[in-house]
Amino acid sequence: MRILVIGSGGREHALTRALTASEHTTAVFAAPGNPGTAQVATNLDVAADDFDGLVEHVRTRDIDLTIVGPEQPLVDGIVDRFEEEGLDIVGPTAAAARLEGSKAFADEFMDEHGIPTADFEIFRADESDEAAAYLDEVGAPIVVKASGLAGGKGAYVCTTLDEAHAALSEIVTDRAFGAAGDQVVVEEYLEGEEASVFALTDGEHYVVLPPSQDHKPLGEGDTGPNTGGMGAYAPAPVVNGSALTEVCRRIIEPTLAGMQAAGTPYRGLLYCGLMMTEEGPKVVEYNCRFGDPEAQVVLPLVESDLVEVFQKLVEGRMREATLHAAPGACACVVLASDGYPTAYDTGFEITGIDDAEALEAVSVVHAGTARSDDGTLVTDGGRVLGVTATGEDLPAALDRAYDGVDAIQFSGKTFRRDIGEKGLRRLQAS
Ligand code: AMP
Ligand code: GLY
Repeated sequence: MRILVIGSGGREHALTRALTASEHTTAVFAAPGNPGTAQVATNLDVAADDFDGLVEHVRTRDIDLTIVGPEQPLVDGIVDRFEEEGLDIVGPTAAAARLEGSKAFADEFMDEHGIPTADFEIFRADESDEAAAYLDEVGAPIVVKASGLAGGKGAYVCTTLDEAHAALSEIVTDRAFGAAGDQVVVEEYLEGEEASVFALTDGEHYVVLPPSQDHKPLGEGDTGPNTGGMGAYAPAPVVNGSALTEVCRRIIEPTLAGMQAAGTPYRGLLYCGLMMTEEGPKVVEYNCRFGDPEAQVVLPLVESDLVEVFQKLVEGRMREATLHAAPGACACVVLASDGYPTAYDTGFEITGIDDAEALEAVSVVHAGTARSDDGTLVTDGGRVLGVTATGEDLPAALDRAYDGVDAIQFSGKTFRRDIGEKGLRRLQAS
């Protein structure tokens, strides 16, 4: 099989690596890819939003199967386009990707289908007075979100009413997220530990991947601004066996059944962003693609042949699919640029990746890197690298990942030293 991965970040590097490992794979392409994917795949000079260009490459290069990394092309209908062209692709249609593309849609859908989530109210941008009055009525803590795609920045978790009013005016008055702020969702603040559970589904049947935990805040102890994710590990003990069963029964299955009943079956990867509350797991957000950096820790734990699973998915044969997880654990520490997630400089030379990868069970994914004119590897994004390691258990995986972190150098290298600590505490307590 000749396989294309659309996207250019750490998630896509992890996907190209995992696909390369399948015995069914004869060639892997990445569009546009990055210097990491170039080591295991052929990078194609075509952007993730250039649907015509992507279709043309798939045809001229005889690509059998396409996997979509990021959410924007999914929300914009890349799957609909490929299906019109008769091309196999893994991902939801635009109608199904609304579960991520519109938080208002997702909240109303969950309400209709009794799927556990936060209490919420939805307001149009021209109803800001009503939204403000609602904030006063409920009080803090409270969560204010732009409904549309906002690159992970549109959710404000507010501990005071002043913060909540400021968030509301950033979204509706300053239009900080443009049309993504045409609707505002105000949500009850959910307390608990977060986790990510991914299901691969043909719309009816599904397999779940090992539960993982991201670290969204920039600072240690979960402080500072939210980022795309500063590290992850899997399996996450907070979603133990019985909690995972509850996630399947109360969240994944009713989600698939509800989308099917609505005539917009959900095919692809369903990402359930969860808060594990005292009342059980509740959905914080759905995403319509693999998490980043969660993919980096989940994929190395998949022992089953991923290409076979994807093939069954596009053929509507997920009933026959199984997914075996490897024993042990996987951890990923993200190395970011100083100043991320706001302003940062790029173009700094990166050294030591080979030394890191020479360590046992350590691999490094490229997230924001580039080659300078003379071929030097340099920083080219907020999240630069993900240092990933497997181990017999979580402590072993974390030790190895941090040894890898120490081997890599670039100016402004920024990372959290406490990735996986919540998991370690849970393991010690059990
Ligand atoms: P979202 O953009 O919806 O994924 O939200 C980003 C982050 O904000 C989540 O990962 C949570 O850490 C936090 N968050 C979102 N919604 C809630 C909520 N209702 N209660 C508590 N925290 C939330
Ligand atoms: N790591 C969070 C996400 O992929 O949305």
